[in-house]
Amino acid sequence: MSDLAPGPGRVRQSRIYRDGVLGSRPAVPTDFAGLERAARKALSAQAWAYVAGGAGEGRTMRNNREAFDGWAIVPRMLRGGGARDLTRTVLGTPLPVPFLLAPVGAGQLVDEDADLHTARAAAATGVPYVFTNQAGTPLERTAAAMGDAARWMQLYWSTDEGLVDSLIQRAENAGAGALVVTLDTTVLGWRPQDLNLGSLPFARGLGIGQYTSDPRFTELVDERVRRARPGERPKVTLAAIRSLLSITRHHPGSFRANLRSPNPRAAVETFLDIYSNPLLSWEHIATLRGRTRLPIVLKGILHPDDARRAFDHGVDGIVVSNHGGRQVDSAIASLDALVGVRDAVGPDATVLMDSGIRTGADVFTALALGADAVLLGRPYMYGMAVAGQRGVEEVIANVAAELDLTMALAGVRSLAEITRDLLVPRRR
Ligand SMILES: Cc1cc2nc3c(=O)[nH]c(=O)nc-3n(C[C@H](O)[C@H](O)[C@H](O)COP(=O)(O)O)c2cc1C
Repeated sequence: MSDLAPGPGRVRQSRIYRDGVLGSRPAVPTDFAGLERAARKALSAQAWAYVAGGAGEGRTMRNNREAFDGWAIVPRMLRGGGARDLTRTVLGTPLPVPFLLAPVGAGQLVDEDADLHTARAAAATGVPYVFTNQAGTPLERTAAAMGDAARWMQLYWSTDEGLVDSLIQRAENAGAGALVVTLDTTVLGWRPQDLNLGSLPFARGLGIGQYTSDPRFTELVDERVRRARPGERPKVTLAAIRSLLSITRHHPGSFRANLRSPNPRAAVETFLDIYSNPLLSWEHIATLRGRTRLPIVLKGILHPDDARRAFDHGVDGIVVSNHGGRQVDSAIASLDALVGVRDAVGPDATVLMDSGIRTGADVFTALALGADAVLLGRPYMYGMAVAGQRGVEEVIANVAAELDLTMALAGVRSLAEITRDLLVPRRR
């Protein structure tokens, strides 16, 4: 690239302005508030509650955003210019820009093919996709939709160790570049938006595609069906029939055969029983190294001591995250936690961060405070709500463009130059 070549920021910006001359507008709003409004309009009440909702009174989500508002970038003059390098390699995975797509479960609420849309958008842009354990589409199909593009796999630790091994094996076979074990969801947080609607996607057969496609899980379902005694019949209401149809439609196999089979309902029950282990402990983590050849990343770390302990257990990286404020209400902002974690583990440890990243300027701030890269969550789901795969691609392009322009205007030419001294605290 010549020194005068425009970065992704100027390319994207001029495309939007040129298209504007011809009367066309970007497919998704380029500011987060507009994106969120457009997504809300496009989504059902249940989908909006699940994706946008948080734990309790929503204080952790607010903390996440206020933490970003607590820092200001101090641009430096007369030292940027020319080509900028936004690339970085994290745990052997090359990133064209310093972010990945976060694992976002139950995307089927937004679009039946959510996982495939995300996978294709990731492949088209080169941004790695962290497959969610709660996908609707089996990871093998999602991987096949991406060609050779980079993917990681996120795991919820089931109470069934055989299922844990099976999912790890499948991730390895599907070319995952890392295994991301999420620690913060040993039980589901208290989520009033979903509770008020009585809405849990998994109970309607959404977001359990990794399970219903798994040989070990299928064994568990068969066992359950064999052991079942004729019990109380559930009340027949319109909602119950709708849920049953949804479960039947989303189960592998033909709809007609599924209607007659007890297995689709047994699969949902089995899932609800075993999907996460409330007793998950460091002893489980200690077994991981012997169970996979993939780099291991622990997601959901917020305390410096937990961060140190993670690396003492031989993991390769961590994600500082409060799960987008969906688990504990009034929890520490992820960005605030990042500062203490980075200080605790030193400059060389691989530390990613998510929860509250909305724009390119946010990526800049997180990197300046010590993140090697960040994960983008809700913004890309909102892009999908508005414009499917193209919406995801545009959100990625917009965040990358703004990061690039922020770097240009702040006087930095590479990610390594995004350092703490470019920030000052703002009075909160
Ligand atoms: C709708 C939704 C579903 C999610 N599902 C998962 C999941 O299956 N596994 C996981 O590790 N994290 C999951 N997360 C958390 C994200 O990976 C990420 O930590 C979070 O979205 C970051 O917060 P932000 O989107 O507000 O920036 C989910 C988040 C949302 C919004």
